[in-house]
Amino acid sequence: MHNDKEFQIIINQALEKLSLDNQPDNLYAPIKYTIEIGGKRIRPILCLMATELFEANYQEALNAAIGIEIFHNFTLLHDDIMDKADMRRGKPSVHCQWNENIALLSGDAMSVIAYKYIAESKNLKGILNVFSDTALKICEGQQYDMDFEKTDNVSVEQYLKMIELKTAVLIAASLVIGAITANASKEDQNNIYEFGINLGMAFQLQDDYLDTYGDIEKFGKPIGGDIVANKKTFLLIKALELANDEMVNSIDFWLELKKFNKEEKISAIRNIYDNLAIAEISKNLIKNYFLKAERALDSINVLADRKNVLENFYKSLRYRVF
Ligand code: IPE
Ligand code: IPE
Ligand code: MG
Ligand code: MG
Ligand code: MG
Repeated sequence: MHNDKEFQIIINQALEKLSLDNQPDNLYAPIKYTIEIGGKRIRPILCLMATELFEANYQEALNAAIGIEIFHNFTLLHDDIMDKADMRRGKPSVHCQWNENIALLSGDAMSVIAYKYIAESKNLKGILNVFSDTALKICEGQQYDMDFEKTDNVSVEQYLKMIELKTAVLIAASLVIGAITANASKEDQNNIYEFGINLGMAFQLQDDYLDTYGDIEKFGKPIGGDIVANKKTFLLIKALELANDEMVNSIDFWLELKKFNKEEKISAIRNIYDNLAIAEISKNLIKNYFLKAERALDSINVLADRKNVLENFYKSLRYRVF
C-alpha cells in the first residue's frame, strides 16, 4: 500500500504527461499553469487509497483519479471568477493572469478533459453515475454559495447543506470511485461515502476557518477573502447568532457597505469573531465532523491494518487547523 506522499508523486507524474502544449495558447496555457502550480491533490490521493483499501491495484483507478483532479481544478477556475479571488496557490488566479473569458473557456475545456479521463475508467457505468451526480451537486452548492452572499438569515443548517454540495460530495465521490473500481460491496461503498462526506464537511469548515485565521504563506489564498465577499461562512452565521445588538448592527453595517477599505472590514469583523470566541466554536464543529469520519472509517469491513494509511492521511488533514 502507498502513503499520501507516494501517491502525490504518482499523481503529479501522471499529470505531467498530459499533452497541453496545444493551440490556441490562450486556451491551453492556463490549463498547464493551473496543473503545474499543483495543489494538495487530496481527492485523487483519497481515490487511490480507497482502491488499495479494497485490495485492487491503484493503477486501475489512475485515470479516474486524474479525471477527478482535473475536474476539481476546473471548478477552481470558475470559483475564482465567482468569488473575485485574485490569488490561488500563492499565484495570481487564472482570470487575473489572463482574463475572465479565458478562465471560463479554459475551465470548460478542463471539464471536458476530466470527462475523457473518467471515460477510461474500469467499471465505467457506476463511476460515471457517481461522477455526473456529483458534478451537478457541485453546481447546486456553488449556486447556493453565491445566493447566500445576498441572503439574510442563512441558517447553520442551510450552510451545512451548501458545503456538503459544493465540497463534501466530491471528496466522498473520490473515495467511492476507488471503492467501485475495486468492486467493494455496496455496504462498504456506503461506508466509505459516509467517511468522505464527513471528511469533506470538516475540510470545508477548515477552509472557511483558515480564510480568516490562516497564514497566507501556507494557505496560498489571501486572508479575509470570505469576509470581503460577504460569504455566509459558519464563522459569520455563528457570530450573527451569538452577537448582541451592537455587534449585529456593526456586522450589518459592514455587510451593506459598498465601498470600503478591505483591511478595515476584515479587522472589524474579525474583532467581533474574537469577542465571541467563534474560532473555538468552529474548531469544535470541525473536530466533531472528523470524529464522525473516524467512526465511518471504523465501520468499513476491512482489517484495521489496511486502514492505517487512510487514517494517517485524514489525521494529517485534521491537524491543519489545530
Ligand atoms: C480548494 O480545495 C477548494 C475547497 C473545496 C476548499 P483544496 O484546498 O483541495 O485545493 P488545492 O487543490 O489543494 O489547491
Ligand atoms: C470552493 O469553496 C468550492 C468549490 C470550488 C467547488 P471556496 O470558494 O471556499 O474555495 P476556495 O477558498 O476559493 O479555495
Ligand atoms: Mg473561492
Ligand atoms: Mg467559492
Ligand atoms: Mg474558501
